[in-house]
Amino acid sequence: MGLPLNKIEKIFNEGYDLGCVLLAVTGGEPLLRKDIPEVFELAKKTGFSTILLTNGYLLPKRISELQKFVDSINISVDFPDVRHDKIRGLPKLLERIVEGIRLSKKYGIAVNMNCVLTAQHSLEDIRRLMLMAKELDTTVSFEPIFETPTPDGSILGSMSKKDANLLKINDWSFVKRVADMLLYYKRNSFGKTVLNTDAFLKLMRDRADYVCFPFSMQLGIAYNGDVTSMCVLGMQKDYLGNALNQNLKEIWCSDKAQALRDKYKQCRLARKYGCYLLCVTEPSLPFTDSSVFLEYVKRVI
Ligand SMILES: C[S@@+](CC[C@H](N)C(=O)[O-])C[C@H]1O[C@@H](n2cnc3c(N)ncnc32)[C@H](O)[C@@H]1O
Repeated sequence: MGLPLNKIEKIFNEGYDLGCVLLAVTGGEPLLRKDIPEVFELAKKTGFSTILLTNGYLLPKRISELQKFVDSINISVDFPDVRHDKIRGLPKLLERIVEGIRLSKKYGIAVNMNCVLTAQHSLEDIRRLMLMAKELDTTVSFEPIFETPTPDGSILGSMSKKDANLLKINDWSFVKRVADMLLYYKRNSFGKTVLNTDAFLKLMRDRADYVCFPFSMQLGIAYNGDVTSMCVLGMQKDYLGNALNQNLKEIWCSDKAQALRDKYKQCRLARKYGCYLLCVTEPSLPFTDSSVFLEYVKRVI
């Protein structure tokens, strides 16, 4: 169950009035929603640019209904081979992803493949993913797997402890080697293939602290209308409000929201927990690292 279209319309209109320009639809798995094309159509009508985040399984089946309303697609591709199907528990997933990417590119949609780095990866996997991206004319991004801290340890989503332990990065020197490799390849033949900025890769390499803006640059709306910050680190989020019965602007400008933003400015947990979530970190970096702008400019000229 998700929000009905008429409620989504209210939220889109209020978000647009607030100055939002980009709508990213994630999950869960958005392509499981029957009327997802209507959601994207509404987003385009409202005036947003649109990104779909998907595991790609249903992409070949659904891309024709979506293509007019989706500007960009982010597909999870963790491994360049059958290990991806295994880790996601979906037979033939990678095959379907490749088919979905080829179709999307035919429609002129920009595609990025996102790889979540785990202890199961090798440098050769990273190189093969870059080659795959180049061959398919997509970009590829990398982010280290992130564990959500809990009072009794940490968890990786809803995985069993045993599975989570197999993925958990205990040795950050591997991430450093990946980051160095990507920085090198970006300068040598893969400049337009690797999506991560140098600034992101250096943060990840050095396991550095940084300031991100998970409720200044972005705002999240959950399946039930709850307004959330995009921080997943477990810094206390508090209840910000619900977009079904409140105006988005009222929530966005509330004292609670402002207090949360002030709190994030003091956050020094990235280093401690290895928190480098791509979709929060990258959009935050232009505000703290001027080299990012230069890199964006270089990419389009
Ligand atoms: C939460 S998923 C939702 C969209 C879609 N169902 C999918 O599988 O891509 C969005 C992105 O977050 C990434 N992600 C999920 N869990 C993560 C974790 N623990 N650490 C880092 N990235 C993660 C996924 O691989 C995916 O690229």
